[in-house]
Amino acid sequence: MKWYPMNQELFSAVDHYINTLLAPQDEALAATERSLDEANMPQISVSPSQGKLLHMFALLCNARRILEIGTLGGYSTIWLARALPADGRLITLEYDPKHAEVAQQNVTRAGLVAQVDIRVGKALDVLPQLAAEETEPFDLIFLDADKKPYVEYFEWSLQMSRPGTLIVADNVIRDGQVLNSNSTDPSVQGVQRFNTMLSTNTAVTATILPTVGVKGFDGMALAVVN
Ligand code: SAH
Ligand code: DHB
Ligand code: MG
Repeated sequence: MKWYPMNQELFSAVDHYINTLLAPQDEALAATERSLDEANMPQISVSPSQGKLLHMFALLCNARRILEIGTLGGYSTIWLARALPADGRLITLEYDPKHAEVAQQNVTRAGLVAQVDIRVGKALDVLPQLAAEETEPFDLIFLDADKKPYVEYFEWSLQMSRPGTLIVADNVIRDGQVLNSNSTDPSVQGVQRFNTMLSTNTAVTATILPTVGVKGFDGMALAVVN
């Protein structure tokens, strides 16, 4: 693949400016970020400005029911759940019991226990159970777990959607590696397969929002169910 120049320092500085102005972290979010280091978990949560964007998507959707796949320490969970009304509900799926435990502590500290339900297990095992038990569709769905089965996560998401549901998928550009058709990285292959599927899926209206900032160069796919 061709080499393209980047200006990561500038992108980080500008993102820091945006985060400070418009996505300042309160104690619950700052403690969630710290909890990842304390528990030796990866710092791969969405950035503050991306968390704010997810929060705004939930507000725009008037979301009362949110599904998240991939909890980690609950950082994006907190941003999303804070957009819910008091009787709203966010279900988040996490494979690693340790991650789920840390996330539960963070969600509790944020005062969101009543709204947030963390389900432990492989998403592809939990999604069929969820689809069987859930009667009401989700208003917003955030895909952010392992990238290989993104297409399958999307198909389950469609089953639990209604016209107007917003489906957001994180990390679909991966520093531009998505352009490398010879990539052997399973995560890159996963998002390539996902983006191609989106381009031909008539069930949704979709685009990709490229992002640069403190988390590098990536992108979020946005799909509204028709
Ligand atoms: N959404 C989080 C970050 C999630 S990181 C945030 O922005 O704050 C991805 C998470 O998905 C990790 O915690 C990982 O353990 C989890 N995960 C990976 N494979 C999974 C699977 N098959 N099912 C459910 N969760 C999975
Ligand atoms: C990775 C996963 C993510 O969800 C993310 O936002 C950044 C990185 C990863 O697996 O490397
Ligand atoms: Mg992500």
